[in-house]
Order: sequence, then structure tokens, then C-alpha cells
Amino acid sequence: MVLKVVVTCVVVLGVVVTPVITSEDPISQPRDWPCPDANDFYPCLCIYDELDHTLSIDCSLVETNEELAQAFENVVFPFTYLKEFKLEQDANPNVSLDTVGLNTFQDLTFERIIISGTKIEIIFEEDFYGSHETLTYLNLQNNKIKHFPFISVQLYPSLQTLILDDNQIPSLPEIQSDSLEILSINGNGGIQLDDFLGPPALQEIYLARNQIELLQVNFFWNLPNLTLVDLQRNEISILDEYTIASQSNALASINLDHNKISSIRHDAFHGLLPDAVVSMRNNTVVELDEDSWSHLFTQLVPTGTLDLADNPLNCGCDMDWIMFSPNQIDLRIFPDTTTCSSGNQIVDLDVQFFCDRCLPNNCSTLYPAGNVPQRT
Ligand SMILES: *[C@@H]1O[C@H](CO)[C@@H](O)[C@H](O)[C@H]1NC(C)=O
Ligand SMILES: *[C@@H]1O[C@H](CO)[C@@H](O)[C@H](O)[C@H]1NC(C)=O
Ligand SMILES: *[C@@H]1O[C@H](CO)[C@@H](O)[C@H](O)[C@H]1NC(C)=O
Ligand SMILES: *[C@@H]1O[C@H](CO)[C@@H](O)[C@H](O)[C@H]1NC(C)=O
Repeated sequence: MVLKVVVTCVVVLGVVVTPVITSEDPISQPRDWPCPDANDFYPCLCIYDELDHTLSIDCSLVETNEELAQAFENVVFPFTYLKEFKLEQDANPNVSLDTVGLNTFQDLTFERIIISGTKIEIIFEEDFYGSHETLTYLNLQNNKIKHFPFISVQLYPSLQTLILDDNQIPSLPEIQSDSLEILSINGNGGIQLDDFLGPPALQEIYLARNQIELLQVNFFWNLPNLTLVDLQRNEISILDEYTIASQSNALASINLDHNKISSIRHDAFHGLLPDAVVSMRNNTVVELDEDSWSHLFTQLVPTGTLDLADNPLNCGCDMDWIMFSPNQIDLRIFPDTTTCSSGNQIVDLDVQFFCDRCLPNNCSTLYPAGNVPQRT
């Protein structure tokens, strides 16, 4: 018998497993068990994690539909449950793969599926049907997807995370699911949101880089567990009443950076946690008048954060109510990076200046003994 020397070097969680040398395999098992023969499966790779006894598949070297189909036609897996299927082709212009293929995965089931950098335009309802019961994480970012079967999300009762960033999805409809917690749909420019109805367990929603100009009132209201909203790099110019509002009362992180917001309405924000972070960097806010902003301050002062860095803030009498708040407590929600258009940090502004310019009685009522707070 020919001496078989198999040199496999598998890196599992950073541990290099020493090469396995087998001679005349006494049991007639394929040498890579529980993976199929590596040559038959090429260019896909099967990875066995000895720590938790799971198999994962990495087909990132696949460039064409035929290669993907053939890799799976050639092999049989001893177990149908696999941890992950991955096909990540982000910087390869040679990829022509444009379909998952109806029967590619046969009866294999996956917990996680990641496919990116392909030319796939249509995801069919049946593409991952084998994984209905097992799928928890589906990441299809950076493909060319124009059609995604949102209607079938309800067929995956364990699906927690759905990532569809950087595709060409034209509209986001109602999503029915009792399990979905994270929905990321950044970078689908012009996506229509009018019919969206979020699934009730949703905790985080990412809608950055979508050319959104206006969000419907109460867009997020019926999401009782919502904590995070990411709307950065859109074209929002005004936040109307109840735009960022959730009955969850658990909003912890709101990102509105790089929009065109110049004003907000009194009731734009509802349901922020006391230590929530509202970031509105690089917008066009000039004035912080009390009518518009006090309700947001009520929710954030004193432990929350309002980041207005890179806004052309006027820092005039429009914001004297902030300067005159008891012990200047309202100033605590501004990070040090918040500056007036003049360059001064808001936290350094001189209260006496506001006394002189903004109040008819020069602060004599507010600070009767002349104890105007001094700059520190
Ligand atoms: C694309 O194909 C060309 C020609 O076959 C090859 O030289 C090149 O390395 C390929 N690029 C990648 C990223 O695989
Ligand atoms: C919201 O979160 C709570 C606590 O994690 C959970 O018990 C509840 O089922 C969630 N609500 C929905 C609608 O999923
Ligand atoms: C600021 O926002 C504008 C769009 O409103 C964007 O074009 C620009 O790149 C942003 N600046 C930075 C530093 O991100
Ligand atoms: C206001 O009061 C301060 C301190 O008492 C004083 O220095 C300042 O000149 C007054 N400004 C005006 C406009 O009266």
C-alpha cells in the first residue's frame, strides 16, 4: 500500500493543529472525516472545529455558478447540520456567480449564512429552505440584490440578524417575525420605507446611507424593544414630531450624523433612556431654541449625551436657557467636542456674557447676589 501522507494545517481559534500523518488508515473512513475529501470539495473548504465539533464551509474561492454547484454535487456530508456557510468575495472582479442555485445545499442546514461580493440580484424564497429551522444569522451584504423575499422571513423562526447592506433593494415592506432582533439595510440608496412595519422583537435598526429625506411620523413607534437607530449619512433636514419615537422607552443610541438637520420639533424624540446617546454630528443646526430643544434636553439631562460637533452653532441668546439652567446642568450633556461656529467650546462659554446680552435685568433675578457662575 502506498503510504499516505496528508498534511493539513487547520487553524481553529488561533491554535495551529499539527499536521496529521496517517498511514494505511485502518478504518475505512474518508481521511478528512467528518469533512468530505478536500480535493472533491475544492474550491470550497470544509473546516472542522474540534472544540465544539461543528463543521463550517468556506466557498470564498468560488467565482462561478458552476463551481459552486459542482463542489456540492461531488461530496456527501455525514451530518446535515453545519455551523456556517461563507462565500465572501469582496474585492474580486472575476466573480460571475449570480445565483445560489435551487438545490445547491441539498438537505444541509446552516446556523449562519454569509454571502457577499457576488452578482446575485434575486434571492428566491427557496434558496435556503433547508435552513428554515436553524438559521440565526443571514448576511447578504454587498451583492446586487434587487429582490429579497421578505415574505419568507417568517419561515425562519430562529433568525435574529438580517444584514442586507449595500444592495439595490427598492423597498422595505412589512417584516413578520417573532425572532428578528437586528435588521441592517444600510446603503440601499432610495429605498422606499412607506410600507415598512417592523417585527416586534426588533432591537437594532440600521438605515444609513439610504438618501432618506423624510421619515414618517411614528416610524419606529410599534417596536417595543427598540434600543438603537442608525440613520447616519442620509438627507434628513427636519425631524418632525415623533420621528425618533418608540414606545419601548429604551432608546439608547440614536445616530443622525452627516444629515442636513437644521431644526427639530418639540416632540421629535420620545422614549430615550436617561443615559442615551443622541449623535447629530455634521448637521446644520444653528440655533438651540428652547421651544424646539427643551423636550430632548428633558430626556437627556443630566446623564445622557447630545453630540452636536461640526454644526454651525450660533451660541447666541437662542441658547441662554441652557446657560442659565440650574448649576448649568444642561451643559453636561454636551461632549467637549461641541463647539460654536466661532470655534469656542460650548462648555467654556461665559455666562456673564449671556447675562449682559440676553436678559433685560442683567441676571439680577437669576443670580440675585451677583453670583453669576464663573467659567472654570
Ligand atoms: C482574476 O483573473 C485573472 C486572470 O485569470 C487573474 O490573474 C487574477 O488574479 C484574478 N483576480 C483575483 C482577485 O482572483
Ligand atoms: C422584549 O424583550 C423582553 C426582554 O428581553 C422579552 O421578554 C420580550 O419577549 C421582548 N418582546 C418581544 C415582542 O419580542
Ligand atoms: C458631512 O455631511 C455631508 C452631507 O450632509 C457629507 O457630504 C460630508 O462628507 C460629511 N462630512 C464628513 C467629514 O463626513
Ligand atoms: C451686569 O453685571 C455685571 C456684574 O455685576 C457687570 O460687570 C456688568 O457691567 C453688567 N452689565 C450691564 C450691561 O449692565
